[in-house]
Amino acid sequence: MTRLNEIGVPTHLVRRLNMREQLVREVEIIPIQVVVRNVVAGSLATRFGIAEGTALPRSIVEFYYKGEGGQRPMVSEEHITAFGWAAPEDLDEMMNLALRVNDFLGGLFLGIGLKLVDFKVEFGRLWENDYMRIVLADEISPDNCRLWDIKTNERFDRDRLNRGPGRIEEAYQEVARRLGILPEGGPRDLKGPKAMQ
Ligand code: TMP
Repeated sequence: MTRLNEIGVPTHLVRRLNMREQLVREVEIIPIQVVVRNVVAGSLATRFGIAEGTALPRSIVEFYYKGEGGQRPMVSEEHITAFGWAAPEDLDEMMNLALRVNDFLGGLFLGIGLKLVDFKVEFGRLWENDYMRIVLADEISPDNCRLWDIKTNERFDRDRLNRGPGRIEEAYQEVARRLGILPEGGPRDLKGPKAMQ
């Protein structure tokens, strides 16, 4: 998030407080999940019967509506603007920002031997007096990205849930270790969250 802010992608992050807590700006969340895909996997593979791992000729952006009761239908720009979930210019900005995040994260993960297969992000409206900006308002973690090892295609994300208990924690720690953000005392060296204003 800090690095994205540095390259001009606005986010809700004010600052990181510790390894588990962040101070963020309050935004009006847009109920749309923006998914960017570089390689076929997950629901894209299922929907079209294309083999997982097939490289896409260009990145694909998809929109999903965050409906009541955990439903997540895929929607088009037409649905989003007709139902008033986002204005056409908001949507353009969200797509633009999502692609910039893709370029940045793709390079970041490539540098630590991981392929950014796909990811999901959400955006919010940040109001400052009468002025509104669209900002990234989400987490970025192996929970909302697919990350595969460049050489072995080993999964380092939540898809490992299907491959046995305990494996997911290991994978997240490996991503943190490669990024150089694992706490010095190891993954257990984390203070519990504190309530704050
Ligand atoms: P999908 O292939 O299941 O549609 O997922 C695409 C990407 O979106 C993948 O990186 C995981 C992420 N994702 C979420 O962050 N939240 C969700 O609820 C789902 C279903 C997917």
